[in-house]
Amino acid sequence: MNAILRAEGVSKVFSDGGPVSFGKAREVVRAVDDVSFEIMRGETLALVGESGCGKSTLGRLLLRLIDPTSGKLEYDGQDITALSRHGMHDVRRKAQMVFQDPYGSLSPRRSIAQIIAEPLDAFGLVKSSKERRDRVAELLTQVGLPPQFMDRYPRQFSGGQRQRIGIARAISVDPSFIVADEPVSALDVSVQAQIINLMQDLQEQKGFSFLFIAHDLAVVRHIADRVAVMYLGRIVEIGPKKSVYGARQHPYTQALLSAAPEPDPDKKSRRIILEGDVPSPTNMPSGCAFHTRCPLAKDICRTERPPLTEVAPGQRAACHFAKPNPILVG
Ligand SMILES: Nc1ncnc2c1ncn2[C@@H]1O[C@H](COP(=O)(O)OP(=O)(O)OP(=O)(O)O)[C@@H](O)[C@H]1O
Ligand SMILES: [Mg+2]
Repeated sequence: MNAILRAEGVSKVFSDGGPVSFGKAREVVRAVDDVSFEIMRGETLALVGESGCGKSTLGRLLLRLIDPTSGKLEYDGQDITALSRHGMHDVRRKAQMVFQDPYGSLSPRRSIAQIIAEPLDAFGLVKSSKERRDRVAELLTQVGLPPQFMDRYPRQFSGGQRQRIGIARAISVDPSFIVADEPVSALDVSVQAQIINLMQDLQEQKGFSFLFIAHDLAVVRHIADRVAVMYLGRIVEIGPKKSVYGARQHPYTQALLSAAPEPDPDKKSRRIILEGDVPSPTNMPSGCAFHTRCPLAKDICRTERPPLTEVAPGQRAACHFAKPNPILVG
């Protein structure tokens, strides 16, 4: 399995853009800070972390909806960091996004058929209106909606149905990579599993690479092949699902997992309550960004940033106290 997408030292810094006045420095937000990782062909990678840690920014960077401040992005072996709008045309077709908010992301004045066919038209993939309607009907069926709904408008649908419509639009162009940014967090809990199952089925049938963004590890437990955990703009742990859930190395992953419901009562671990708030990304802590809340923090954590190092085959953690993983090594 080779990589469909590779990020090397990618950062995104937002500044408020206003003039520096009254001696006050311009606010600078390090939303994504020196991130390197790969997404393999045909895999589902879950990207997890608390609100504001930079998940959406990273997702948008990968699709080049925004430009990185520094670093390099490769799509299918091609350097796309500096590609022009024109050069990005083919990549855009192959890489699609499903949004968090099924209410705000569908244009209210357009019919379902128009919404779903938008990418098909943009990339010239249908030749006639008959072909367009046939394709929309087929896509609606694939996401579990009756094809005769195509002439209705978004307001006539529930949140779960709207998210199905968003998914139909994303898969319409047969993409090889999809970013779903918290696709179920605005939905009722009872509907969340249905939408996750649908995306998992579609991923298996079509084999696209899938970045699934969530703030909760419990949500991605079934769908993920690998999991990346983000904290304050950095990936602090990444690895196969089995390692990240079963033999996590980073204290932050540990804390996130201990906050999630454990389905197997025998495995219940001690609940770790994180002290304090997430520091502001405008004022990043020195050394390991997690040291202000970490129960294990020592002097070195305040001064030296731990690199993301391999702790077991395919598993990497950024912690001075991470140890080679006893379950998976030897
Ligand atoms: N366009 C922007 N201009 C300035 N700051 C921004 C912009 N977009 C995001 N940020 C800041 O970057 C940081 C990361 O934001 P981002 O939306 O990527 O986080 P997130 O992990 O997706 O959060 P959530 O779980 O709430 O969706 C936040 O501090 C946010 O305020
Ligand atoms: Mg977000």
